[in-house]
Amino acid sequence: MDISFIGLGKLGLCSAACFAAKGRRVIGVDNNRALVDALNAGQCPIDEPGLPELLGAARPNMTFTTDSTRAVAESGATLIIVPTPSGADGAFVNTYLDAVLEAIGPALVEKDAFHVVDVVSTVMPGSCRNHFAPKLENLSGKRCGRDFGLVYNPEFIALGSVIRDFLHPDLVLIGASDERSGEVVRGLYAGMVESAPTYALMGLTDAEVTKLSLNCFVTMKISFANELTALCERTPGTDVDVVTRALGADSRVGPKYLKGGLGFGGPCFPRDNLAMQRHAAAAGLELNLSPSVVAVNRSVPGRIFERLAERLPAPGPVALLGLSYKPGTHIVEESQGLLLARRLLDAGYELRLHDPKAGPGALEALGGQGRLCADAYEAAEGARAVVLLTDWPEYAGLDPTRLELAAGPEPLFIDGWRLFKHHAFTRFSYLGLGLGPSA
Ligand SMILES: NC(=O)c1ccc[n+]([C@@H]2O[C@H](COP(=O)([O-])OP(=O)(O)OC[C@H]3O[C@@H](n4cnc5c(N)ncnc54)[C@H](O)[C@@H]3O)[C@@H](O)[C@H]2O)c1
Repeated sequence: MDISFIGLGKLGLCSAACFAAKGRRVIGVDNNRALVDALNAGQCPIDEPGLPELLGAARPNMTFTTDSTRAVAESGATLIIVPTPSGADGAFVNTYLDAVLEAIGPALVEKDAFHVVDVVSTVMPGSCRNHFAPKLENLSGKRCGRDFGLVYNPEFIALGSVIRDFLHPDLVLIGASDERSGEVVRGLYAGMVESAPTYALMGLTDAEVTKLSLNCFVTMKISFANELTALCERTPGTDVDVVTRALGADSRVGPKYLKGGLGFGGPCFPRDNLAMQRHAAAAGLELNLSPSVVAVNRSVPGRIFERLAERLPAPGPVALLGLSYKPGTHIVEESQGLLLARRLLDAGYELRLHDPKAGPGALEALGGQGRLCADAYEAAEGARAVVLLTDWPEYAGLDPTRLELAAGPEPLFIDGWRLFKHHAFTRFSYLGLGLGPSA
């Protein structure tokens, strides 16, 4: 079965290329004409590790167009991956999805064959059942579950490792209006993934709740590790890595996302928590865990700020290394490093900024305040404090002696990820997050 994708952005293009690279014919649709033209010209307009090579292999099986009617007509299933921005109340807004459904509905009228409409974008619980299915039925005059199928099939990927995550899922979550549609989507994934995932087939709304709760659970682990990090800092003779490593070895806990550090950011984790809270509030339930998870996360930049400010008065200068919300991406949306940068700027500190990919985006987000540096050593030049915020592999390879020689008088080094905790510094006063005072 040929498939179509509507929305060829950060997630959509990678997903479409994965299916096509595994031999499936894919019609990719985007309403951004420049993006489609770039793809048709052989370019790779999305910055994601491994995507140019994957697209190279996938291109013989891919067609790019702005015409979603044609895409529906020429495929058996349409995966929709368009933005669902968060509204002021934290709920996801369906404006982009509605526009796509309005294009798909009339296209379904023309089709005799059963067609599966697969929503991949993150949506609020109840959206498929209460909103998308009736909308498609009205637009097409057909019955959902009988004449066409509706599936909710969100992805659990992280920017910077989208392709690896997509090819090696633990879980493929498939909420479906009917058994046949669920099996169609299961078959698509079975022919594409390189792992042996659990296929969780369920109803549409169960899947919508599962998607949000999974991300909320993962962030709960991150915030647990970060509260532990704060506790270890006040407990002489402790190292949070020693504690979390042992905790994670217990299979009831597991090691992933249990590392003390800067906390979570980016386009999914923070807003999925807010959406979960919003959904609960609309259902008349006040959640306790999710608001605490967010509060712990928000406290991390503040904790670093206080540790820095008690030793070094403004204006510093301060070098910030790593501003993307995680390694491997240029994205600075909801980055904890940016929150710290803003706090420092408000307090009158001078900033030197470095990030392997996110420098220009971070500088723009900071309204041009701060000096962008070509490398970490230039950022450290004359700085009174160097703060390592994102655990880019490049930073683990830095020469700590060269950094401290470049720094200004009586310099401070705050290491958000304890990359240099075993190094014997001679000039830096070293503060590793999650390391208690020497016993
Ligand atoms: N990026 C992530 O890490 C991630 C992870 C999990 C889930 N998601 C979810 O996936 C969805 C998409 O995210 P993204 O990061 O890929 O977004 P994106 O902004 O990178 O890409 C969206 C694409 O959709 C296109 N588009 C918008 N309206 C369209 C229309 N009517 N017809 C055709 N194309 C249209 C845009 O031009 C753009 O290219 C969101 O709901 C997001 O929450 C994203």
